[in-house]
Amino acid sequence: MTIISPSILACDFLNIETELLALEKIPNLWLHLDIMDGHFVPNLTFGHPIIEKICKKTSIRCDAHFMVTNPEFHVDTLSKAGLYNFTFHIEATPEPLKLAQKIKSLYPSCGVSIKPNTPVSALTDELLKTVDLVLVMSVEPGFGGQAFMPSAYDKIKLLVERKKSLNTHFTIQVDGGVTDLNAKELISSGADNLVAGSFVFKLGPSQYAKQIEKLIAT
Ligand code: DX5
Ligand code: ZN
Repeated sequence: MTIISPSILACDFLNIETELLALEKIPNLWLHLDIMDGHFVPNLTFGHPIIEKICKKTSIRCDAHFMVTNPEFHVDTLSKAGLYNFTFHIEATPEPLKLAQKIKSLYPSCGVSIKPNTPVSALTDELLKTVDLVLVMSVEPGFGGQAFMPSAYDKIKLLVERKKSLNTHFTIQVDGGVTDLNAKELISSGADNLVAGSFVFKLGPSQYAKQIEKLIAT
């Protein structure tokens, strides 16, 4: 089953409660939270108090994507915030395996992300056997609304092969520029979880379910 993870980066932040209530009516979603620190990526988004408020309020599984220089710090300080999945960037840590093991001990799910210029080969066998999710970035992290980079397809296919040869399971998530024009090929390439910001939110709450349906049904 394909999971859609709407990125609230594109939501109406002045009415976030209404936004969450609209999404809660739609089954099988994750809620994607993009945490940017103005250092690992140029942009800034939101931090701990807001993450915690959102996670405690919503019944949707919160999927945190940390685009930060020091993911280790957030692992400890957010451990009681109610996050479901904690994804860090492999480019942001010298010891990804150690970090993944720590996340696994504190959160239900641990993800590792690779930027467009980071090859799948940067992910060691041991790391792939440890994580629950691999996030393939299909745009340079930092901003919503960018154009999808088709290089993500081959990365997803490589990850499917690695999964088979290692006889392990992890979710393959893709993030950036996901629309109804690429969702079908992403899913047939092996993606299980599609993050979508602009595409889900652009037409307003009355259309969220329809937009999400288009991604799954295309
Ligand atoms: C980009 C973020 C994405 C972003 C996706 O750095 O990680 O999650 O919100 O937005 P769209 O779907 O608009 O590309
Ligand atoms: Zn993201």
